[in-house]
Amino acid sequence: MDELEQEHIWIEKEIAELQNAPLDKTQFLKFLNFVETHHEKEEKQLFPWIAEQTWLTQGGPKCTYFMGLRLDFNHSAAVQTALKRFVLSYPDFKFNDPEYFTWLQSSSPLSIPMEEHQLSSRLKECLLYILDCDPQQMTEDQSLGKKLLDNYVDLLKIHLVKERDCLFVLCRQKTQL
Ligand SMILES: [Fe+2]
Ligand SMILES: [Fe+2]
Repeated sequence: MDELEQEHIWIEKEIAELQNAPLDKTQFLKFLNFVETHHEKEEKQLFPWIAEQTWLTQGGPKCTYFMGLRLDFNHSAAVQTALKRFVLSYPDFKFNDPEYFTWLQSSSPLSIPMEEHQLSSRLKECLLYILDCDPQQMTEDQSLGKKLLDNYVDLLKIHLVKERDCLFVLCRQKTQL
């Protein structure tokens, strides 16, 4: 938990830099890979264990608040729309197959953070593709690349806050980890 929380702090710092400075490709690639690795750690080391806990369905602090946010500002739906636009613009592009997790039940509260991980992973694939073939898009307003970057950052920010203020708090309350 401590390690994951420290990683959140690093990711939040990088997001602030990303939003306040010209895009540095090397640093951006490092950032994308760091986020992906962080998500993989949660999926393989933390979430499978949480999925077995009976207290998971009780919900964490601010759970209702975050469900309301999801209904009012559906970041995931905005990402789905952007991904569809990307697929139409680059019809030859193929996404990697999403990883299948035996511990994940569709009714589990963890399906929300897992959906966010998967969308963020798809956005990463799009961003890498555009960085490779049309990098100036990443800075042009109204371009698909810039839109996908904004979606990526927005989704990540809300995801980090939800884990920090809800899921991780719940884990600490229940286990004193
Ligand atoms: Fe996460
Ligand atoms: Fe996280």
